[in-house]
Amino acid sequence: MALRLCVPFTLHLTVYAAHHTIFTEHSPDGIQLSSLRARMCMAKRTQNSRRSLHPGEKVRVLISSTRIQRRIKELSRQIAKDFQGEPLHLVGVLKGSVFFLSDLARNIQGQVSIDFIAVSSYGKEIHSSGQVRLTRDLDASIEGKTVIVVEDILDTGMTLQYLLRIFEQRNPKHLRIAALLDKPGRRITAVQADYVGFTIPNEFVVGFGLDYAERYRNLPDIGVLSFSKSARKPADAK
Ligand code: IMP
Ligand code: MG
Repeated sequence: MALRLCVPFTLHLTVYAAHHTIFTEHSPDGIQLSSLRARMCMAKRTQNSRRSLHPGEKVRVLISSTRIQRRIKELSRQIAKDFQGEPLHLVGVLKGSVFFLSDLARNIQGQVSIDFIAVSSYGKEIHSSGQVRLTRDLDASIEGKTVIVVEDILDTGMTLQYLLRIFEQRNPKHLRIAALLDKPGRRITAVQADYVGFTIPNEFVVGFGLDYAERYRNLPDIGVLSFSKSARKPADAK
């Protein structure tokens, strides 16, 4: 697979080299083409090996990385438009929101600051314990700031309900929620996100920051996790 993907690139480089006579000509970024080719092939191989799954677990792609990136660009534009020129303070809920937050922040034109908060509610299970606990507070005050809470997924809504209660007491100028995914079928609170990337069915998903037992956060796509019959499932999995 990695080899097959590298071949067209190699051919392309060879043609490029023939046209430009010197193979070691620098690309616009100042990287030698020969080393660029090696790096691309290595990156492909690393990417493929990173995708190896845990025994007994399968991931079926639900939302591709291309769709994710396209949607994040749209959300960034929408947020920037809604708060024209105002400094934005993005607060990521660790750890699931890290990739979403960093892509969102990079796509918003204008002044952006970031901070993180951490809560625990899931552990190794695929259903929430329903108990939310603050495990890491913000570094800075949010008083008077335009705060966008950035979450990977809005599921039962317990986490965000808990966080909103805390944040509201700290007097931000505005308080909004951006959730990459929304699973409305599981909601048991009245919480709604102001910005939603994708609404998904009631399935357990991993990738692009979302994990199962700390696995799969690094998958570039979002996929539905399933277990083979022989695999040991978490205690409360249905
Ligand atoms: P809630 O409190 O039930 O809304 O759950 C929010 C948190 O649960 C999210 O921030 C995720 O960390 C986790 N979570 C909920 N659904 C999923 C899922 O399908 N995959 C991975 N994590 C999930
Ligand atoms: Mg989360």
